[in-house]
Amino acid sequence: MTRRLAFVLFLIPTLATAQDKKPISFINDVAPILKENCFACHDAKKRSGKYDMTTFEKMTNGGSGGEAVVAGKLDESDLHGLMVTKDERRMPPRDKGEAVPADKAAMVAEWIKQGAKLDAGIDPKADLLKELRVRWKPPTPPAKFDKPVVINALVFTPDGKSLVVGGHHELTVWNAADGKLQKRLHTRAERAMALAFLPDGKLVVAGSRPGQEGDVRVYDLSAKPAKSDGGVDFLDGVNDQKVLVKHLLDADDSVLCLAVSPDGKTLAAGGCDRTIRVWDIAGGVGSAKLAQSIENHADWVLGISISADGKHLVSGSRDKTAKVWDLKAKESVMTFPDHQNTVFAVGLKADGSLGYSVGADRQVRTWKPGGDGKQVKNSGAHGDEVFRIVLSPKEPLFATCSADKTVRVWDAEKLAQTKALAGLTDHVYAVAFSPDGTQVAGGSFLGEVAVWNAKDKNDKPVVQWNATPGLKK
Ligand code: HEC
Repeated sequence: MTRRLAFVLFLIPTLATAQDKKPISFINDVAPILKENCFACHDAKKRSGKYDMTTFEKMTNGGSGGEAVVAGKLDESDLHGLMVTKDERRMPPRDKGEAVPADKAAMVAEWIKQGAKLDAGIDPKADLLKELRVRWKPPTPPAKFDKPVVINALVFTPDGKSLVVGGHHELTVWNAADGKLQKRLHTRAERAMALAFLPDGKLVVAGSRPGQEGDVRVYDLSAKPAKSDGGVDFLDGVNDQKVLVKHLLDADDSVLCLAVSPDGKTLAAGGCDRTIRVWDIAGGVGSAKLAQSIENHADWVLGISISADGKHLVSGSRDKTAKVWDLKAKESVMTFPDHQNTVFAVGLKADGSLGYSVGADRQVRTWKPGGDGKQVKNSGAHGDEVFRIVLSPKEPLFATCSADKTVRVWDAEKLAQTKALAGLTDHVYAVAFSPDGTQVAGGSFLGEVAVWNAKDKNDKPVVQWNATPGLKK
């Protein structure tokens, strides 16, 4: 796995192998095979060959060529025939992908021979991806990891005393002064891609199980722990409704970014489905209302930010652009095209006069949000891909983090670098300011966290630790 890919990678799920006599379950045994090998081209949008496999009913009915599954009759069932055929016309098409592994095709064959039944309790019209998600149970993180856990997001708690770090199926909370582990909160999501505290102290998390699902869930870190062990509190964010206080969104792939407006009344999230969802949370996140769904990008949305006055939303995408959206008029205001490569993150100066974007082109760029999409300035100081940008809550400063292993602090007006913060030994995927703006924290591919002073002359970390529970030094 390359490090670059680790930021947004896909995992291949492991599957049980065919066992002849055992009754085959459609949802547990067959549907995962179809999802893995077929859904990409036979979803509700693409419908290749007018064949939509998103529900059991549509999947068995087939496409323009008629029935794809005939119960008990293997040689009349194209679903299986096209997987194993020696003919040119195979599924997936020969030029588009590998054949379905033999043991998996055999599993599908056995299911058809056994009568091609749908499991009891599932509606033939139900969305299969949703049914698969419901059945998937998140693993419990081990007491001790033997490999470092990639950090994709971190955030200071509102009192500035602790850091919440995205781990492997969990969020970990650490004392920001000495790096001591305080809490572990089990999550359904494999990774936290973005973290943000709401005005009421609840934590919003954009979650990812790469290539499988994504979510936006809200947690209460102050809820009563399920247990405490060795000074560490364990919270169950999967089942405990006092910990998991709101479930805002389920998506078919990763949710990658979040933004909360400075007045705390608007929440937005974006991800692999290219859609930015905007919720009105003025009445609290408990009564959040979906206000709009914006489809303004042609590819994954990787970064978003809401202006201080709550009127505009900026976004960055794998489609190589940054865009500004007018939240009131519900229309696109401008497109900034200069990165010519993936835009990982964006920001807006507090007074709305300047837009910021960073990307795979290794540049930090500034532009006029209301203008014609022309650049104001750029800096290539990072020298490698730049992943995130966060604004200081107190001053005209922002911080960026990069594959060059540094966090850098910038004058938000002049785009002049004020500090280059060293100490981490790998790609830095996460960066955050403390609520009072005096400290900056970074998190790396190797699980390292460092906290620096944002403003003095010192560029060495004040404190540094590895945020992988139980990792041997
Ligand atoms: C990379 C894209 C792609 C993938 C992956 C793919 N298909 Fe297809 N499929 C197509 C296209 C394009 C057509 C229409 C052309 C054709 O029928 O050959 C098609 C047609 C079909 C048809 C015929 C529909 C009809 O009624 O005419 C069936 C059945 C089918 N696919 C099944 C599958 C199965 C089962 C899988 C997974 C094992 C799969 N496909 C994976 C692209 C794909």
